[in-house]
Amino acid sequence: MTIDRSIKIAPSILSADFANFGAEIRAIEAEGADWVHVDVMDGHFVPNLTFGPPAVAAFRKHVTTVMDVHLMIAPVDAYIEAYAAAGADIITAHIEAGPHTHRTMQAIRASGAKAGVALNPGTPAEAVEYLLDMVDMICVMTVNPGFGGQKFIHSQIDKIAKLRAMIGDRPIHIEIDGGVTVETAPLVVAAGADVLVAGSAVFKGGSVDAPGVYGENIRAIRKAAGDARG
Ligand code: DX5
Ligand code: ZN
Repeated sequence: MTIDRSIKIAPSILSADFANFGAEIRAIEAEGADWVHVDVMDGHFVPNLTFGPPAVAAFRKHVTTVMDVHLMIAPVDAYIEAYAAAGADIITAHIEAGPHTHRTMQAIRASGAKAGVALNPGTPAEAVEYLLDMVDMICVMTVNPGFGGQKFIHSQIDKIAKLRAMIGDRPIHIEIDGGVTVETAPLVVAAGADVLVAGSAVFKGGSVDAPGVYGENIRAIRKAAGDARG
């Protein structure tokens, strides 16, 4: 089975207006977002707190594309069903969140969602060697998780290239998460990535009253990424 490896832009609503999620989701989709990236944080695995299943279920009412739910929580297995029931199309769990990642990926797929595994900057590409037949996406963190607006960690580019080689023609997306901008997007796409999460680079300068800025930002990232594809 092959997958569509065309460039996808997945704005992270962590950088959206927290008093206007419905309008913000509708705005980024109208302005060209391919997926909507939802950052779930538990204040334990990462030093920040965000969305429980009820909030994600509320977002689902406004997402017409793909709801890409990134679980930065530990332990994670106990919450998979709840986020799947909330409407997640993709559920990504961190390999660092627990000792049984193979089983976690099985549980995500059993929930009906597609399975993603996320690697923090300190985790080597080789860590997913025995998970390649269990996942639909590998998320490479290019910042230490917890916040938007952080600086891209360039050492991860080598990891992206290694993962692209390991994947071969398996139907697995490579998602990049953290510090994606018009400057860094070409670097990660050239290394083999196809899904680009961008929070601050999409939402900066815009608002629900000026959503055109979101469109300009999305188009700029997509062009920079496309140019790297040649
Ligand atoms: C960080 C989150 C990222 C973040 C991206 O823990 O997983 O998705 O929101 O934000 P930017 O694009 O601003 O780095
Ligand atoms: Zn994320």
